Amino acid sequence: MASIDKDKNKVKIDESSRNVEVLVRTMKQDYQYSYNLFDEFGNLILEAHVPISESLLNHLRNSNIERLYYDPTKAQETDGENVAGLNTGKSIVDEALAMETVQNVKDFMDHIRDIYNFSPGASVSKVRIEESRAQVDKLMASVEKNSDGVFNPITKLKELDDYTYVHSANVSILSAILGSRLEFKKEIRLAMGLGGLFHDMGKAPISKDIVNKASLNDEEFDLIKYHPHVGYKLIETNPHMHDIEKRIILLHHERTDGEGFPFGFDLDQYENQTPREIRLFALCNEYILMVQNKPGVKPLSSRDALRKMLNLVFAPYKKVHSFLIRDFKEFVKALGYIVNNGSYFIVKGDLVRMNTGEIGIIEEMNKLFPLNPKVKILKNHKLETLKRPIIIDMLKDYNNFISNVYDKTGPVKAGE
Ligand SMILES: [Fe+2]
Repeated sequence: MASIDKDKNKVKIDESSRNVEVLVRTMKQDYQYSYNLFDEFGNLILEAHVPISESLLNHLRNSNIERLYYDPTKAQETDGENVAGLNTGKSIVDEALAMETVQNVKDFMDHIRDIYNFSPGASVSKVRIEESRAQVDKLMASVEKNSDGVFNPITKLKELDDYTYVHSANVSILSAILGSRLEFKKEIRLAMGLGGLFHDMGKAPISKDIVNKASLNDEEFDLIKYHPHVGYKLIETNPHMHDIEKRIILLHHERTDGEGFPFGFDLDQYENQTPREIRLFALCNEYILMVQNKPGVKPLSSRDALRKMLNLVFAPYKKVHSFLIRDFKEFVKALGYIVNNGSYFIVKGDLVRMNTGEIGIIEEMNKLFPLNPKVKILKNHKLETLKRPIIIDMLKDYNNFISNVYDKTGPVKAGE
């Protein structure tokens, strides 16, 4: 997507935007695209599934047109505009406050290690908890003050060991923004922010070599799986923490398909035993896990992370799934534009699958409800090609939703 180059105050296109455009010099006669292609002014140049003619190629070359776009709004977006009207040069939480938050998590985790090493059985200190709560208050004030800004995760790691601290600060900031955008009660927003700082406290006693490792073997992963339970046990009876904060620590890795931990809830348990704010917290956690640079792991762009998360929503045809569509819709409503510099993460021309199993192409986006676009259905649920494609307006049918988006250029998979 387009992003502001702060130094030169101009817009450049990063790698993640490559798949929204086609270079004319790579186009070949008789080739067909499955999407409509537009010029930079949004004019339709080539219809989907129509072979490229020699005369069109000559016209494009003679007119010095270098690129065509799948989305007619894309060219305008690269001029720095964004569909949500956000100030893309402004951070909701500035770097100084974000780094202060990282230090707060580090101090807290050192405290937890001290308890393990020197005073087993001691309670987590009331003073420490209140210090972290004061930090969340500062974050919440910044979120209110800079509500027209955007979110970019902290990526700086002073030392390799800082990964968990930076991750927790990122999750806390993102949860505070989500709570504000969805207008949660102050106590819930405070609890989600504190949950962000504390949710991985059960990792404090685990060797940093394992916590910071890019890929884990089965034995190491089993150890990591204990961290929600270990953390919960440390604060289960602590009178200075609220129930929702405790349950964030315990339940933030539960998933819809039973593959979560520590309990491995099934779909029904996930829906009924994991409160909405904890499920939304889990989405914030998952998003940060995808976009933050872990040593040895290439992070996803915000666009690709959102698309991958969409591919992980539950739909009847999927074996692998992590979230409920209603939660993902709320997550996107609150944060979709804020984390993606004001741009859509799915666009007109994207190939998608619906929860019903049908396959189609997005015909027209809906700004307020980006997950309810107009879709041209090309294949039915048995994946048979329709003789005559039909266009459906998903705004009018709330039972249906997009549950997969496919990438032509990148392997953003998961969920099938
Ligand atoms: Fe965790």
